[in-house]
Amino acid sequence: KPSAFFGPKKVRLEIDGQPVDAEVGATVLDAAREAGIHIPSLCYLREINEIGACRVCLVEVEGQRALQAACVYPVAEGLKVRTHSPRVRKARRRVVELILSDHQRECTTCIRNLNCELQNIAEDLGIRRIETQGEARRQPVQDNNPSIRHDPNKCVHCRRCESICAKVQENHVIAAQERGFDTIIAPAFNADLGDTACIMCGQCVLSCPVGALTEKESIDDVWKALADPTVHVVVQTAPSIQVT
Ligand code: FES
Repeated sequence: KPSAFFGPKKVRLEIDGQPVDAEVGATVLDAAREAGIHIPSLCYLREINEIGACRVCLVEVEGQRALQAACVYPVAEGLKVRTHSPRVRKARRRVVELILSDHQRECTTCIRNLNCELQNIAEDLGIRRIETQGEARRQPVQDNNPSIRHDPNKCVHCRRCESICAKVQENHVIAAQERGFDTIIAPAFNADLGDTACIMCGQCVLSCPVGALTEKESIDDVWKALADPTVHVVVQTAPSIQVT
């Protein structure tokens, strides 16, 4: 617990052989970033979505058999962590390959091309080929929201949109539906985003690391949707967020 007099209590750990001081309660990812050590992450959104869902941030922790997700692993005195060992890099590659295997890979025509967190991570890991190709779940693109397009086929199930809609906007429009391989992050009963209480604040679009939630490219799309009498539009300003 932080002391008012002496400041927050610190622990010393070792990351890639480097001594690092971190506040008690911080995660290995926090500590590494503070020390300038890069660990890739995909689902992590500081203080908003810290759920260890994607496993892209896997690291090796001495004394633990299994690799651990750095974004949810708490720091401790004397902890020894390796962030880029061959085992870590191999596992991370595998994780990203599996995510990509069920991802609609139309990168060159995607609006997020060259501005996509998944693409950047795959590039950093040198992934050129997807070895695994299993069943891929394909869903219709939801397009009746006046300003937001939802393509579930590009969703990586990071749940950042769900957390931001609930915790920042307090609107709770999107959440995980179904279970396991059938999981889809969408409005309840997989309703179209345009048929919900969505206020089009755009927080979900800002937080989406890929091209699953995007702003409609052209103002014509927005006018077309606004002219649709079946679409109920509520205009409301929303607080802006900083995505870290
Ligand atoms: Fe740590 Fe997704 S960033 S599990």
